[in-house]
Parts: sequence; structure tokens; C-alpha cells
Amino acid sequence: MIHLHNIAKSYTSRGEVVNLFEHLDWKIETGTWVALMGASGAGKSSLLSLIAGIITPDAGSIYLGERDITALSRDEMTAFRGKHIAFIFQAFELIPNLTVSENIDLVLDISHAERRYETDEILEKVGLAGKGNRYPNELSGGEQQRVAIARAFVSRVPYLFADEPTGNLDERNAEKIMELIRALHEETGNTIIMITHDKGIASHADMVYRLSSGELKIEK
Ligand SMILES: Nc1ncnc2c1ncn2[C@@H]1O[C@H](COP(=O)(O)OP(=O)(O)OP(=O)(O)O)[C@@H](O)[C@H]1O
Ligand SMILES: [Mg+2]
Repeated sequence: MIHLHNIAKSYTSRGEVVNLFEHLDWKIETGTWVALMGASGAGKSSLLSLIAGIITPDAGSIYLGERDITALSRDEMTAFRGKHIAFIFQAFELIPNLTVSENIDLVLDISHAERRYETDEILEKVGLAGKGNRYPNELSGGEQQRVAIARAFVSRVPYLFADEPTGNLDERNAEKIMELIRALHEETGNTIIMITHDKGIASHADMVYRLSSGELKIEK
């Protein structure tokens, strides 16, 4: 379970205080795929960064399973993140001078996470069999995002955090990516938090939350 308890977070920039959260609570059951919606600036990415331990709350606790990540040092958090959390971003974030296979293997080297699939096996699952030796710029946008999906699922980590994973794709490719995530989610049983602006994309999730004025409400 992911459990946020009584989270407060504000930013101060140029003397101006932005209160994002004051008393935020959120529970996500293990194995659930959650979509997170909300207006631009509502704090969705900030919330994901809090849960990933990239930024720290001003108050409250954040449990990933048994672990209160707010109690971890920066180094401990980095190690914990590598072994427990995979990410997918809007801009794919593939390394241009590494091949597709090398991009996938790199996360395993860096994170020290256990491997769940052989590289060729996961490439086949995402429909990129035989393309492991290509470079990212030799792939279409949809294919690049499938590499990012492969990279997110190749290691045996329980959490997947995705920030607008289909933001750069047309509707047809976005649907394909959702079907792929659905199949891999069912196979791995991972817990997914996926930020999206798109109701159609959100509908693929088990639950849909909307973040507004620092509060979360269930939409589905
Ligand atoms: N490092 C920071 N310093 C100061 N303010 C910040 C910082 N990061 C984010 N903010 C502010 O916090 C608010 C929430 O930002 P956040 O990126 O979490 O929104 P979002 O819901 O992800 O928006 P979008 O849908 O546009 O991605 C915004 O008003 C933003 O300007
Ligand atoms: Mg955002």
C-alpha cells in the first residue's frame, strides 16, 4: 500500500508562498492502477515527486509499503527508489547515443534492481522484437515510448510512476501504449500512479482521482 498521511507542502519562490497541500491523505492499495487528473498547476507532478522521495514534505508521512520514506536520508532514498520505483515520462528520456537494448539495460545497472525480464523478452512484449540494436532517433515517437515502457517493466520493482506517459503521442499510439501497460500491469501486479490530462487515457486505470485545491477526490 502507498499511504500519505497529513502531508503539507508549500513552495516559496521570490518571497511568494504557494501552498500546495495542507492536510493531504491518500491511500492506494497494492496492485491498483490509479490515474491522477487535475488542472495545470494543481500539483500533480509535485505529488508524484513527493511519493518518489524526490522532494520532501514540510510535514506528514509517506509510506511505501512498510517504509516511511520521509525518514530516509538522501542516499538511502536514492537506493530505495532504484529498487522499488520505475518511471515513465512524457518526453521518453531515452539516451540518444545508446541503443534500445543499452537504454533498457542501463536502468538495471544504475538501480541495482532485480531483473524481471530478459531484454529481448521485454522488447518482444512491447512489439519491438529485433529493434534492440537501433538508436532512439531511428524509431518513431510511439516506438520510443514503447522502449520507455520496456525500461520501466524490465526490473522487478513494485511501483510505476508515470507523468503524462502519452502526452507526446497521437490517439492511436496512446491507446496502444495503454493496452501495453494494461497487459504488463496484469502480468506483474505492480502499483501504478499515472498522471494524465486525458479522460480517455485515465479510463484505462482502475481508479481515477482528481486533484483540486490541494484535495483529492475520487472520479471513478
Ligand atoms: N520548485 C518549485 N518552486 C516553486 N514553485 C514550484 C516548484 N515546482 C512547482 N511549483 C509550483 O507548484 C504548482 C504545482 O506545480 P506542478 O508541476 O506540481 O503542477 P501540475 O499539476 O503537475 O501541472 P501540469 O499539469 O502543468 O504539469 C505550480 O503553481 C508551480 O508553479
Ligand atoms: Mg505536471
